[in-house]
Amino acid sequence: MTALTLALSKGRIFDETLPLLRAAGIEVLEDPETSRKLILATNQPEVRVVLVRATDVPTYVQYGGADLGVTGLDTLIEHEAEWGGSAGLYTPLDLGIAKCRVSVAVRADFDYASAVRQGARLKVATKYTSIARDFFATKGVHVDMVKLYGSMELAPLTGLADAIVDLVSTGNTLKANHLVEVERIMDISSRLVVNQAALKLKQAPLRRLIEAFAAATGAKAQ
Ligand code: PRP
Repeated sequence: MTALTLALSKGRIFDETLPLLRAAGIEVLEDPETSRKLILATNQPEVRVVLVRATDVPTYVQYGGADLGVTGLDTLIEHEAEWGGSAGLYTPLDLGIAKCRVSVAVRADFDYASAVRQGARLKVATKYTSIARDFFATKGVHVDMVKLYGSMELAPLTGLADAIVDLVSTGNTLKANHLVEVERIMDISSRLVVNQAALKLKQAPLRRLIEAFAAATGAKAQ
């Protein structure tokens, strides 16, 4: 029996992966909202789930702390930019879950159109520095980047930055903080990431799981 470890982050990704696991015949036996455990057993003795921070999912899979994981495209792009390549990660499936977008937002009274005229300088606060850098470079806008790890919405309100680059889903967080979305950079959904070495060593069970996920999402494994 080959053990498989799946890395997930708590919240939307965990919640939206559960039905896919169920479709593959896997039931997680504990609820991460009530249990403090970080390793969750499933009804399949050879499959376990580890709970990690969203930004740590690619790292766990890259180093083999997990054989596979589910991560947002945003997190994956930033991870690959940091490593300068695929980082030993095989990404066979767009799971089509945890959908949102990466957008630029500013204070409602900020004149974004003039601020981004060719050759302008813009102060941008974000956790997504690689996505933001590429986006503004393509527009020919010079960016002074302020790296943040959360509560990005505060940056334009406190004068830390002119604009933020952040995930937007319902738009409620922006609205509650009097910010407006001025550009949509990219659509995001979660991807299945697999450790390339594990794919060779644990080929049969991993392939079965990937195929089951593919069938459940209607996607085609690459
Ligand atoms: C994300 C993002 C926004 C919010 C947008 O944060 O950073 O704050 O969701 O969602 P909305 O458009 O539906 O309001 P998340 O809750 O993922 O946590 P984070 O602060 O760790 O990024």
